Amino acid sequence: MPQIIDGKAISAQIKEELQRKVAMLKKTQKTEICLAVIQVGSDPASTVYVGNKKKACAYIGIESLAYELPEETTQEELLALIDALNHNDKVNGILVQLPLPDQIHEDEVIRAIDPKKDVDGFHPQSVGALCIGQPGFVSCTPAGIIQLLKRSGIKIAGKECVVIGRSNIVGKPMALLLIRENATVTVAHSRTEDLKEVTKRADILVVAVGKPKMITREYVKEGAVVIDVGIHRNEDNKLCGDVDYDDVAPVCSAITPVPGGVGPMTIAMLMHNCVEAGTVRLE
Ligand code: GUN
Repeated sequence: MPQIIDGKAISAQIKEELQRKVAMLKKTQKTEICLAVIQVGSDPASTVYVGNKKKACAYIGIESLAYELPEETTQEELLALIDALNHNDKVNGILVQLPLPDQIHEDEVIRAIDPKKDVDGFHPQSVGALCIGQPGFVSCTPAGIIQLLKRSGIKIAGKECVVIGRSNIVGKPMALLLIRENATVTVAHSRTEDLKEVTKRADILVVAVGKPKMITREYVKEGAVVIDVGIHRNEDNKLCGDVDYDDVAPVCSAITPVPGGVGPMTIAMLMHNCVEAGTVRLE
């Protein structure tokens, strides 16, 4: 059977490291870290995610300021709040939970966040910095996947990596991070001809397609490492990923489960970025 990559344990380890670091910063440098979390409207999934982020802050010792704005908030009102938080020296990180209601342009909101406080790593300056190997915040899910691989003892340098999915939040930054780790990287997507032929080349296969259990063993090379970014609820209300775990697990060397794989890493890396925002100068 394959190595099960335990995201729950690895994220707990990262959060404990951050907790110690934050306590040390408070004690030795009187530095407090503060994250502003903005939610517009009351999308139930967003409410759960925002709640989990606030809980993680409390656990680590980061102060969180919660802004719960009504569904009908205008773009101008949201931009005014972001501007005030950009200029508030107490606030180190600003997170605007996505998706936003239709009257608000996501891109403009992301661009309004000061890149020094862009703990989600979504600002074009952060993405550009990642692209050319300069310091900046990195999108939390792909950064978490690199940590999962490294902390599970999986070598990345020189490996053939295939990422399925080209989103701005996962696929593209994932490819850039794997290049930074000296992997050979292919990005496949919905328009890829003969997807199986491409994915069968992968030593490390990162799956972010957004379709429940789409990746079966026909897509996977014997002995590959399989990372599943998907999270869905199946017919019996159980969580599953983009990978058909029971079918793929017997043929691979390591695999992330759903739940308990990639999912818990996103918040751990958000906390990591908040601590960086409070301690490292990016200019
Ligand atoms: N919505 C779903 N995932 C995320 C995330 O990582 N960051 C933000 N800001 N919104 C999200």
